[in-house]
Amino acid sequence: MDLHLKIEVYQCAAELEQNAAEKIILMINKAIGERGVCSIALSGGETPRPVYRILGSSPIKERIDWSRVHLFFTDERVVPPTDPQSNFGMINREFISHINISSRNIHRIAGEKKPELAAADYERELREYFSNQIIRFDVVLLGLGEDGHTASIFPGTKVVHEEKAFVAAVYARRLSIWRVTLTYRSINNAREILFLVSGKNKRFIVQNILKTPAMREEYPAALVQPLDGNILWMLDKDAAEEYVKENPKKDDQIAMTSDGIYY
Ligand code: 6PG
Repeated sequence: MDLHLKIEVYQCAAELEQNAAEKIILMINKAIGERGVCSIALSGGETPRPVYRILGSSPIKERIDWSRVHLFFTDERVVPPTDPQSNFGMINREFISHINISSRNIHRIAGEKKPELAAADYERELREYFSNQIIRFDVVLLGLGEDGHTASIFPGTKVVHEEKAFVAAVYARRLSIWRVTLTYRSINNAREILFLVSGKNKRFIVQNILKTPAMREEYPAALVQPLDGNILWMLDKDAAEEYVKENPKKDDQIAMTSDGIYY
């Protein structure tokens, strides 16, 4: 197992959410402390929604100088921001609209455009923000689908093999959907990668991925491996169930939480 990989298992989703929000605050402030600014890429999905709600509420939101934070998005559906399906729309409702941040610091993917165009525009926006140098987010927040996808890197799609672009349009044939997504090239170069996974329905995929980090095509999330950064999987007990069964407490990579080790 990678030295920079850490797994934390929480008693329940609520505990995971509180701790994730706390962790994100610490990571943002660390980046600001070290470089004066923080770039963070945010994912859609249901798991982080309560985390966004916490981040957008008092007193936690007052712990950040949002003028020093730039918000990016890991992926987007091909819909306008007002559509209930829009990742930006959800994150904006739960979080962004509640904090004091300039629109100049919000870098959304234009889901209302054709996916190839939205991807090209976002690639340009990333290059501009990072001054055409290497794209290096301070923090990337990711979720995990039951099929092993993360961001919108779906199993069996071309984007799994994309090595050049930082952003790509992706067509997931099995689901008949278009998405726009960050590629491994931009995700794996992050300083901190945080996976948030909860629920029993994720228990087998979590176990498979943490057991077989090299299963490229089958489980795209397994290919999220920072080149020079840290990766932390925050799981609730339900999502960790199978992993924990197979890996009884034998190494210090498994950190149990608040009320202690539960197995
Ligand atoms: C999205 C996400 C996607 C998500 C997973 C898990 O746009 O939906 O970026 O990759 O993180 O599908 O979603 P849940 O948290 O809803 O299970």
